[in-house]
Amino acid sequence: MNNNLANLYWQVQENPNSLCDRLQYAIDCEANFYRMCDALKQKQEMDDLTRAAWFYQILRFSYGSKASSYSWKGRDLWRDFPTILSAHHRLRGVGVHNKDFEHFIKLMDAPDTFFYCDPPYYGTEDYYDGVVFEDGDHERLRDLLLSIDGKFLLSYNDCRKFVSCTRDMVCSLRKSPGWIASSSGMTAATNIQNYSYRIMIRKPVASLHNRCLFDWS
Ligand SMILES: C[S@@+](CC[C@H](N)C(=O)[O-])C[C@H]1O[C@@H](n2cnc3c(N)ncnc32)[C@H](O)[C@@H]1O
Repeated sequence: MNNNLANLYWQVQENPNSLCDRLQYAIDCEANFYRMCDALKQKQEMDDLTRAAWFYQILRFSYGSKASSYSWKGRDLWRDFPTILSAHHRLRGVGVHNKDFEHFIKLMDAPDTFFYCDPPYYGTEDYYDGVVFEDGDHERLRDLLLSIDGKFLLSYNDCRKFVSCTRDMVCSLRKSPGWIASSSGMTAATNIQNYSYRIMIRKPVASLHNRCLFDWS
């Protein structure tokens, strides 16, 4: 779904030292930032290691999470090298897949599987470059999650669309700082899951307010 992100993870898994080597002499300047942005946007031909190094620099040298505008803060990438190497160890044995959610969830579903889903939120479907998430995809995800054997936790900015789904789903309001952007401004982040938190944690967490979907007004 995001080839550059998946490729970066694969390079951290397979070639962390080569990736750090490539980043050693990275030039943090505006012209270079936009040159790399254009090259990746236009899908210029380059090897996977270069693509990962450029994508990493764009993430680090950009102002916001959209990674489309240059930040003038200045950043020493050498300070990131220990984190990249730690990530390499952390990702040992971890599968990184770049597939549509339906393909992946169907493949992995089993009674003891746990899915954490963080799809594009309502009103921000077009936020991700090169990824098309259509309105019907929200329903496609909902119907799929209602049919699985495993457990899921789903993050959303608004769960009203899910109200008519089922009584078996539990909905909780996550308090600030879980505020997220939507087309109409900032809305409360919402967690929806098909199990009770009490199954997962013995003591109820004070900051989480659990309610049934049908309590939603
Ligand atoms: C709210 S963001 C998740 C961000 C992620 N949790 C993180 O911390 O980086 C939504 C993600 O859904 C991905 N996405 C969009 N359409 C998808 C699809 N059909 N299947 C799987 N993922 C998709 C987007 O590429 C984007 O990375």
